[in-house]
Amino acid sequence: MRAIMSYNSYEDLTVEKKNGYLLLKLNRPDVLNALSFQLVSHIAEAMKEADADDDVKSVVITGNGRAFSAGADIRDMENRSFISFEHRDDFSVWDDMLEVRKPVIAAVEGYALGGGCELAMSADILVAAEGTKFGQPEINLAIIPGAGGTQRLSRAIGRHRAMRYILTGELFTAAEAFSMGLVSSLVPPGQALTEAIRIAEKIAEKSLISVLLAKEAVNFSQESTLTQGLKFERQLFYSLFSTADRKEGMEAFLHKRKPSFSDS
Ligand code: HXC
Repeated sequence: MRAIMSYNSYEDLTVEKKNGYLLLKLNRPDVLNALSFQLVSHIAEAMKEADADDDVKSVVITGNGRAFSAGADIRDMENRSFISFEHRDDFSVWDDMLEVRKPVIAAVEGYALGGGCELAMSADILVAAEGTKFGQPEINLAIIPGAGGTQRLSRAIGRHRAMRYILTGELFTAAEAFSMGLVSSLVPPGQALTEAIRIAEKIAEKSLISVLLAKEAVNFSQESTLTQGLKFERQLFYSLFSTADRKEGMEAFLHKRKPSFSDS
């Protein structure tokens, strides 16, 4: 039986179910979509719901106004202490957000700074418009990135370049991000969401199980040796020969027709 979800709605996050994907829009434009703890927990909740929805094959996340997001909400953090963070481990909600099995596509325009850059980098596909400014300016606040910036940026663009941006807090453009391998698609200003939706609609045509396993296999490559990764990929590949969609995909190709996948 197919699970069809109804989604929670939030003031700080617009959640719209589209044809085959879920569209999330950060909705705090007055503070450049600063990521309050509440907003991050709402994103995590919506992603969890998307994972349980059989009609949704990916999640598109975008900003609203002048920014994708200018980072963690500095007002939320102003009066916090080491002990309170240590006890409450507030940022563990970022781990919940990353557990989503469906692909996440970030459509980024304006600023993607600090936690906003980390949110964009945690997506599986990062579409950015020319003119977008990326950066990890936490050093200017006498802190460091706390939701993956030191780890993801260095893996994406190399240790020495990451070190430069993290230690100086200097921003870099979408064109630079694209040339360094951080951005999947670079598009003209105003086109990031259109391109992200185009990608989501392409993914919506595929068989869900192959989408999930493809994401899992690529992500495994970031944590494993090549030998382990090749073995893992092969196991997943073999397992897909248990699906009806695999049969349909190959039959459709051989009969020169479009496949009709049933996600089974
Ligand atoms: C809270 C923020 C904010 C933030 C902007 N605002 N960024 N509020 N947290 N991260 C608010 C401003 O206070 C201001 O509110 C309004 O948004 C508009 O911002 P301005 O600064 O007036 O706009 P502008 O002059 O155009 O400058 C844009 C900007 C600048 C360059 C993006 O806002 C900026 O430097 N923001 C902070 C970026 C940053 O340091 N990010 C890292 C945060 S720490 P008012 O009320 O005055 O209109 C972080 C840690 C991550 O992310 C840890 C893991 C999650």
